[in-house]
Amino acid sequence: MFTAALFFVFVALIVKFLQQRWIRFQYFKRMGIPGPQPHFLWGHYRELRENHVLWEERWKAQYGKTFGVFWGDKPFLITSDPVMAKQVLVRQFSNFVNRAEQFALERAHPIVQHVVALEKDEHWKRTRLLLSPAFSVAKMKNMISMIEKCVDEFESNLRKRASGKQFDVYPLIKRLSIDNICGIIFGIETKLQENPEEDSVFLRATLKVFEADPHGLLDLICNSFTSVNNFLSSILYLLQYLRIVPHVLNDMIDEVENIVKARRKSPPRKDLMQSLLDHQQISSDGAPLKATDAAEDQKASFGKTISARLTNEEVVASAIVMFAAGYETTGTATAFTFKCLGSHPDIQRRLRREINDATRGKPLSYDTVMSLPYLDAVIRESLRLYPPLTNMIHRVASQDTEINGLKIPAGLSILFPTKVMHSDEDFWEDPNRFDPERFLKKNYDAFTYQPFGDGPRNCLGMRFALLTMKLTLCKILPKFEVVATEEPVVEVVRIVCRPAQLNISVEEIAP
Ligand code: HEM
Repeated sequence: MFTAALFFVFVALIVKFLQQRWIRFQYFKRMGIPGPQPHFLWGHYRELRENHVLWEERWKAQYGKTFGVFWGDKPFLITSDPVMAKQVLVRQFSNFVNRAEQFALERAHPIVQHVVALEKDEHWKRTRLLLSPAFSVAKMKNMISMIEKCVDEFESNLRKRASGKQFDVYPLIKRLSIDNICGIIFGIETKLQENPEEDSVFLRATLKVFEADPHGLLDLICNSFTSVNNFLSSILYLLQYLRIVPHVLNDMIDEVENIVKARRKSPPRKDLMQSLLDHQQISSDGAPLKATDAAEDQKASFGKTISARLTNEEVVASAIVMFAAGYETTGTATAFTFKCLGSHPDIQRRLRREINDATRGKPLSYDTVMSLPYLDAVIRESLRLYPPLTNMIHRVASQDTEINGLKIPAGLSILFPTKVMHSDEDFWEDPNRFDPERFLKKNYDAFTYQPFGDGPRNCLGMRFALLTMKLTLCKILPKFEVVATEEPVVEVVRIVCRPAQLNISVEEIAP
């Protein structure tokens, strides 16, 4: 009898699950939005995990600029429509403040609740408000010499290889990027360029956490079933909070906490960590206060009293997220720019002339580096062809709304597929051609170009990323001729789209 009842309950649960799944997958049909048929278990997660750029291109060719897919069981409207981008990212931003929860178990680590890129609503607004001053022009000007020091090391590494022989420049640029970002954010010298074999907690974290390829059944299940993900996340959260389950981030968190402690006792410096510490609430005995203790509050623009100081956890989380968001994106973008210039000697020559005319015999300044029009056009064009983040610009509607005649229900996530938009023939003439001229003529719709996203929640580190890339080219190009091999670059499409390897040769230019 008991077994029969149990069996009945089990069957009823299965039927309920199947029914709910079926109803969920009718979501876009009910809205009259086209899209590929979802797999009953995984939605479209398997395709998105395999290569989202490839599949988004295919789906766009089949269903048009706006179509619906399922990130597991979560509906995502994918659209290349610039009018939609303008409305969602800028005009109706107050209704689209939050990013969608895209990655399974992403909330499992306790530190994640303080990560600005994942925070929601007023938590996000407060953190963003407090972090933004770290990227002001005045702060960037102070960082020039620190960035230059790292690029000097990169230059000496290039010199060692300046024999006209081919080599993979990507690992060198990656180490440049880690040295640079660790110097600017944490104020520490990782010296990975000098000592490539050096063991560093930052290098380990980059390999294990930030560059890990999603794979395996658990990833598939968690991304496909929100309820399973929520259940496992809660358990994992507890285990990691109690440090019963080791996490590679723990080493990094310990390291950053030690850095924060040491920095509090040392004289102020001019890096990003200092900006975070300047916003930190410290009690008279030097101990960091908890958020609830924060005494100095302010009435922010969103009409509520908030703490105007970062807690210790927030300083650590912010430093880590800037490292994670900044090092691989900037490194990858720099590497692809070398590839573009190495394949276009005429463009490289013109850029070298512009840099030489503006900088010969003078120390590099922020204003000079940032005011070179052709350099700006070259970098923008390289970011158009090779945007490092291709699936990151998404927002969730918090209330029902209507855009361009399309009814958007609350809870729907809208994603702008960066690479697909950047290679759309309707927006860009001959989109696969590397042609910086288009950014000098400026005859494109700003909402079709999204390497850093748009609106109040765009990339926080854009100014720093552009400065780093421009400064690197200003220092390297006058001294080296870069030649890229003819073979096409194999792109690894993950959270960051990076080259599998990037072969170039360099030759020194006589002074
Ligand atoms: C070439 C380099 C970079 C590219 C292409 C890039 C691209 C992006 C994109 C596309 C977004 C999402 C924007 C949106 O949703 O509208 C983003 C967000 C973000 N980026 Fe960057 N990024 C770069 C470098 C950096 C650097 C160097 C830092 C920090 C040091 C940084 C910190 C962040 C943060 C914190 C966010 C989340 C902002 C928020 O949610 O308020 N990024 N980035």
